[in-house]
Amino acid sequence: MELLSLPGLVLAAALLLLVLCLRTRRTRQPGDPPLIKGWLPYLGVSLKFQKDPIGFLKTLQKQYGDIFTLLIAGKYITFVLDPFQYQLLLKYHRQLSFQIFGRKLAAKAFSVKKLLENDDLNHDLHGVYQYLQGKPLETLLENILQNAKQIVDIQLGESKNWNTTQILTFCRSVIFELTFATIYGKILADDSKKIISELRDDFVNFDDKFLYITSDIPIELIGNAKSMQKKLIQFFSLEKLTHIQGWSEIVQQRQNILEKYYNLEDTEIGAHHFAFLWASVANTIPAMFWAMYYLLRHPEAMEALRDEIDHFLQSTGQKKGSGFSIHLNREQLDSLVYLESIIFEVFRLCSHSGAFRIVEEDLIISSDTSDCRLRKGELIAIFPPMLHNDPEVFEAPEEFRFDRFVDGGKKKTTFFKRGKKLKFYIMPFGFGANKCPGRFLAIAEIKLLLFLFLTYFDFEILDNQPLRQNHSRLLLGIQYPESDVSFRYKAKV
Ligand code: HEM
Repeated sequence: MELLSLPGLVLAAALLLLVLCLRTRRTRQPGDPPLIKGWLPYLGVSLKFQKDPIGFLKTLQKQYGDIFTLLIAGKYITFVLDPFQYQLLLKYHRQLSFQIFGRKLAAKAFSVKKLLENDDLNHDLHGVYQYLQGKPLETLLENILQNAKQIVDIQLGESKNWNTTQILTFCRSVIFELTFATIYGKILADDSKKIISELRDDFVNFDDKFLYITSDIPIELIGNAKSMQKKLIQFFSLEKLTHIQGWSEIVQQRQNILEKYYNLEDTEIGAHHFAFLWASVANTIPAMFWAMYYLLRHPEAMEALRDEIDHFLQSTGQKKGSGFSIHLNREQLDSLVYLESIIFEVFRLCSHSGAFRIVEEDLIISSDTSDCRLRKGELIAIFPPMLHNDPEVFEAPEEFRFDRFVDGGKKKTTFFKRGKKLKFYIMPFGFGANKCPGRFLAIAEIKLLLFLFLTYFDFEILDNQPLRQNHSRLLLGIQYPESDVSFRYKAKV
């Protein structure tokens, strides 16, 4: 029987399922945290968790306390829910590794394989994350502003009358184009617009399957994920890279490092670029979507933000005018407290990032309340959305309140639980040493775009219905909406 014939594939899938089911037959032993496996072999409680993650975990928390183990898609994950216990991940950092988890994910999702065995490459690539902070970050921001100017100028020309489109489609297009131009530069080709649109569509096609790609299912069995992956890696082949001009410092530094570890022609260099491009847009797109969606549905938020922007423009002697003429740096962006509060409120409501570590050796961890045993090869995770939805920390957590992070005209940074001040209260970017290195850029990019859109355009939402999140990014980042939402915009007169 040919391995790739239909019966061959069915047999391979059946064998795989059997192996996966056998791997998930573990029982609770003395000292283990409570173990909740659900009814379904291998899948465990995946479906219940995916349907209503917060509600499901809250129910389990009432029954079992703040630490318990769940079987989710073939993986045993011990959740630590009390925010004062998040530190356990730091305290036991020697035995709890992010690296193995992250590298396995990179190997499967992006075909970046060398990181699995080469610590030096990993170390060097982490070293250049400094180019996403400080002075290089200021340069990136100046470039975003310049690139955004071109996008806004075109839109201003095309929207003298109302332009109707959909929020997610609009945000995808703007964030993808802007981020690519800022980080990778300009594609030198007459049809560069078409090339970028095609790249974006391939990215969306791949990204739609990301939750499955991160599971144990071989990527070859997930629709066209493998061919999309290949195509996206191919986009960054040596020959094609030479046609992209104006790389940012971070991309140039990464390329220098990659050339030290690979032959120049090695396709895995392209895989690293693809992974970085994915990281730079995959969460920023839905975050931008929700920011616009909530602003459009909350006129009081829109008004407060417009006032803040008008006040800033007046105080810095800048006029809105018809053409694009705005200047602002990171410090100025950060002084806009309502703008920041709106973005934090979006993160609070829409981020479903967990932070994971692989347990490298059997180990007993001592929490404030008890000791519990963790097993080698399993996962331990914190899930900050539980904190984000905790009514003791955030009153009426289900509501969007644009000024939740403003107090007396200043940024509000103190939040309490059980009468104790919380060290962490908004955590969309992971935790500890592996926190997202692009977080400053992401926040600045969203702030800048909202600032420019509100300065130059009027907006109206057309489908003003409540919208649910689709949970396709559960544990992995900012959620996507269940459907897109129509809106219209027009250049201000
Ligand atoms: C709203 C937007 C963003 C969100 C919510 C987000 C969130 C995250 C999260 C949760 C992680 C994993 C951290 C962990 O598991 O401990 C991560 C990693 C990462 N992010 Fe972001 N991110 C965003 C934007 C960006 C941007 C704009 C860039 C780059 C320009 C970026 C680059 C990266 C990279 C390179 C990593 C992997 C870090 C490593 O190698 O350990 N991210 N991000």
